[in-house]
Amino acid sequence: VVTIRVPIVERRDASYDIRIGRGLLRELPALLAAGPAARYAVISDSHVGKLYGEKLVAELLGSGVRAELITFPAGEWNKTRETWSALSDRLVAARFGRDGAVLALGGGVVGDVAGFVAATYLRGIPWVQVPTTLLAMIDSSIGGKTGVDVVQGKNLLGAFYQPTLVVADLDVLATLPGPQLVAGMAEAIKHGVIADAGYFDLLAREHPAIVTRDLVALERVVVRSVEIKAEVVSADERDAGRRAVLNFGHTVGHAVEATSGYALLHGEAVAIGMALEARIAERNGTAEAGTAARIAALLERFGLPLEAPQGARVDDLLAAMGRDKKVRAGQIRLALPRRVGEMHGDAQLGWTVPISEDLLREILGAAATSG
Ligand SMILES: NC(=O)c1ccc[n+]([C@@H]2O[C@H](COP(=O)([O-])OP(=O)(O)OC[C@H]3O[C@@H](n4cnc5c(N)ncnc54)[C@H](O)[C@@H]3O)[C@@H](O)[C@H]2O)c1
Ligand SMILES: [Zn+2]
Repeated sequence: VVTIRVPIVERRDASYDIRIGRGLLRELPALLAAGPAARYAVISDSHVGKLYGEKLVAELLGSGVRAELITFPAGEWNKTRETWSALSDRLVAARFGRDGAVLALGGGVVGDVAGFVAATYLRGIPWVQVPTTLLAMIDSSIGGKTGVDVVQGKNLLGAFYQPTLVVADLDVLATLPGPQLVAGMAEAIKHGVIADAGYFDLLAREHPAIVTRDLVALERVVVRSVEIKAEVVSADERDAGRRAVLNFGHTVGHAVEATSGYALLHGEAVAIGMALEARIAERNGTAEAGTAARIAALLERFGLPLEAPQGARVDDLLAAMGRDKKVRAGQIRLALPRRVGEMHGDAQLGWTVPISEDLLREILGAAATSG
């Protein structure tokens, strides 16, 4: 088992551990008997609840830890206020008190909404994350961003709220549908681009082992990605500075995701976002020539999409980007690479680059239907 500490620089007491290894679900009753609560609301979605939730709750009860399973229907379209409200009502009805905690068992959707429930219930009760998708293990379970989507855009309501512990059991990746595994790899590729060219090359080399779910290869991916994300978020808990580099691919990606009506997986939309933002970076002189092609080649090797889906309209994409949280003073700004392994920016320059509407239209227009 590998343990990675996420030190929250501005608030030491909010620091927490991420444990990564095989068979960790079975060790949860022992881990949780030691804290942080007397009673657990195990929040999961309809798929993961059946696959792992029922057994986990039975084992918790069997080892004397009070727990109950609360599920909601799986799917990004359920990451809503309504789900937050229904889950919160369940905690009220079950009379959860301040000695209770939330255990989020599932992918990023479960983590985001269950974390937001934990952040707001009784003004905040502790929560433990047990990520079950590759994406949740390497990305959404680290950094304390919680929240829900509204029709106008993703993650527009939420809170920064750090978990007390994250436990990633690699064995659960065995049941993850193939497209979900690949979608998670988009975030791993992003980590290579923003921080580690050697890791980017390793992902290319290890492609066959990763897609056949070799657990040694998957552990390497989870550990290195967690290290990179933890390092970036720990110095910038509230996303005021360098954390912006994690947004590479996401301003365009979120717009593609939202305008697809969530027909694309988050990681697929981010792959398209990275491919397009890397082209923008080359066109405005931020990135070395060849960077966009290198990124596109690795995304393609994993079978990730590079172009906006048929029927995506430039105006819709621009409107969706205009609603993004990262927009400052009406100007769209992007976190862009200088080359694979290094992002543009520093404390003086800032971490994002303003992009003209003309350039956005040119690159998005080439990848979408104009009109
Ligand atoms: N908070 C953050 O910092 C952050 C970062 C990145 C992404 N996100 C959010 O994460 C969400 C995407 O997360 P996701 O990709 O994990 O999607 P998801 O939570 O919807 O999970 C994908 C699907 O896989 C199923 N599933 C999960 N684990 C499984 C397993 N082990 N075996 C079989 N099926 C399993 C789920 O039921 C679901 O149907 C988006 O809403 C995104 O905005 C948040
Ligand atoms: Zn993402």
